[in-house]
Parts: sequence; C-alpha cells; structure tokens
Amino acid sequence: MSIVQTKEQSEDKQLDLTLRPKNLRDFIGQEKIKRNFEVFIGAAKKRGEPLEHILLHGPSGLGKTTLAHIVACELKANIKVTSGPAIERVGDLGAILTSLEDGGILFIDEIHRLNKLIEEVLYPAMEDYVLDIIIGKGPSAKTLRLNLPRFTLIGATTRIGLLSSPLLSRFGVSQHLGFYTLSDIKSILKRSARILKMEIDEAAMEAISSRSRFTPRVANRLLKRVRDYAEMKSDGKINKKNSEEALKMLEIDALGLETTDRMILEIIINKFSGGPVGLQTLSAASQEDRETISDVYEPFLLQLGLLDRTGRGRVATKAAYEHLGIKWPGQDGLI
Ligand SMILES: Nc1ncnc2c1ncn2[C@@H]1O[C@H](COP(=O)(O)OP(=O)(O)OP(=O)(O)O)[C@@H](O)[C@H]1O
Ligand SMILES: [Mg+2]
Repeated sequence: MSIVQTKEQSEDKQLDLTLRPKNLRDFIGQEKIKRNFEVFIGAAKKRGEPLEHILLHGPSGLGKTTLAHIVACELKANIKVTSGPAIERVGDLGAILTSLEDGGILFIDEIHRLNKLIEEVLYPAMEDYVLDIIIGKGPSAKTLRLNLPRFTLIGATTRIGLLSSPLLSRFGVSQHLGFYTLSDIKSILKRSARILKMEIDEAAMEAISSRSRFTPRVANRLLKRVRDYAEMKSDGKINKKNSEEALKMLEIDALGLETTDRMILEIIINKFSGGPVGLQTLSAASQEDRETISDVYEPFLLQLGLLDRTGRGRVATKAAYEHLGIKWPGQDGLI
C-alpha cells in the first residue's frame, strides 16, 4: 500500500489514537473552522440546546473524524460513530438513533454512501427529532411516530458532490477542510515528535513537511517511517541527512509526489499527448480505481498546479512536464 495514500490504513489506527488532538486548542490550522466552532459550541452551551447538524467535507486525512470527536469533547457530549455503508437497513439506523443520549452526537462517516431509503428516514429525525416506523404491509400498514432524543448529526464526506440536495439542506453548518499550509504541517510534526518523544532537528522537520501533501495524516505517517529508518541506520536521532535518505527510499520526490502520482502524469503526457483524458480512461491505463485517483491523487496534483481539470478531462500542465523533465510541446502562455 502506498505511503502517501491519504486514506486511513491499519497502521494508522494506533498512531491516530496517540496523535489525534482531543480539543480545539490542540487542533492546528484551519483557523476559520476553529473560530466558527468556538462560536457554535459556545452558543449551544449557553442556550442549553443541541448544536446544529454539521457537515464536514474535504479530502482524506485532513481532520474530519478528529473534529467530530473534538466537538463531542468540547460539548462533553456522548458520541456514537458509524458510517454510510455500515447502515444497511432502516432498522440499523433506528437502533442507533433511539440509543442516543439527549444532546448526544451521531457521527456518520462517508455519509455520501448512505442508501436512499435510509436517507429518507434521516430527514424527519434531523428536522424534528422523530422516527417514523411503518408497521405491517399493504392497506393495513400503520405509521408509528417515535420521539427521539435531541441530537446533533455530524456527517463527513470526501465527495460532497454526491450528496443529495434534500440531505445537504438539512445541515445547519457546512465546513470545508482544505489542505494545510506548510507552517501548519510543521507545527503538527513538532507536536507529534513531542508526543512520540523523538529527537528531530528543524531541517528534518522541513524535509518531511514539504513532502507531506499538505496533509496531517501523511505527515505523521512519514514521521514514523523516518524514525524507523533513523533507528535502524543510526542512533535514532533524526536529522536532514537520514530523513532525506528515508524519504528517498520511499520514492517520494522533492514535491512530495510518489510513484503513482508521477505515473498518472506520465500516462497523460506520454499516452494521451498531455490530455484531456477522462477519469475512466485514466483509471484503465493506470490500473488504479477511479475513486482513488479522484480522491487521493488528483486533489494534490491540482493543488500543486501539475494537473488541470477541464470539461473534457484531465490535462497535464506545463509545470508537470517541467517537473518530470519532459519537453513541453505547447506554446508558452497556454495552460
Ligand atoms: N489539525 C490537526 N492538528 C493535528 N493533527 C491533526 C489535525 N488534523 C488531523 N490530524 C492528524 O491526522 C490524522 C488524520 O485525521 P482524520 O482521521 O481526522 O482525517 P479524516 O479527514 O477523517 O480522513 P478520512 O477522510 O480518510 O476519514 C489524525 O489522527 C490526527 O493525528
Ligand atoms: Mg475520517
């Protein structure tokens, strides 16, 4: 499995437990979101009312799950965690909703994968804290209305475009998590190194942060890999030299691209004359699934300006040619 896969992998579980910030103060970066949350949480506490339903969206590994837990912690509320694909039947959702505490939080990860029938049961639950159950079949069927505890739904998604508008409209708050700045990533690395009791110098921190895809999960994962390397090759102290060696061994280049990123760009350039190429074609040519390309690789390549998304497909930019050392065939000033 690729090292920069922003999606959660099994090795992350333990790392996440130790490194995940527990309150808003420890959550680094995303200043606008933090300011908003302080206000929402403060107001809800003051009024003694549940928080509005919140939708968190943005690429993998940027802190959506972390923020959901932080909200619960700040509110001192109970949190139940589930995900879109895990709720298979209406009964599953009913069981979760009726088990919530008053003022509690329900976190639904990958909410774009919720089945439509279940989504419809969620509407009255979100709006009026009621659950409509149909008992029996045919003409004698009856609807029973159950009152639910007043709860806050926090939904997380990497693909907001797949959410239906009735569901979207029921969230009072919608927050986008964007990529972090380099200086935020450095602060996150500093915090992680402190927690993991690592000896690491400034230059090594610089080397890791610049290759972290502006993503905390990747930064933490690289930090751990670099530490493993330093422990194996030397006394465990992390400096510029051993961190760069470790990153080189992982085939991560100076911009933070790994083999698959480069392969995607090379396919667009060499097989499709720089594009445009449709996602489906790109997926077939690279043997990576569509969702992985669009959720993991593309956002970062777009962010770096190596890829452009046009109505007709993906295009490699001049910067991509330059980065890969391939001669740019177009005219200067185009793309
Ligand atoms: N702002 C932050 N400050 C410090 N650490 C962070 C921050 N955001 C994320 N992290 C770290 O990155 C890890 C990944 O974050 P998280 O699991 O919340 O991402 P996610 O957006 O839910 O990803 P996915 O879409 O794959 O579920 C966390 O365990 C935490 O250690
Ligand atoms: Mg998550």
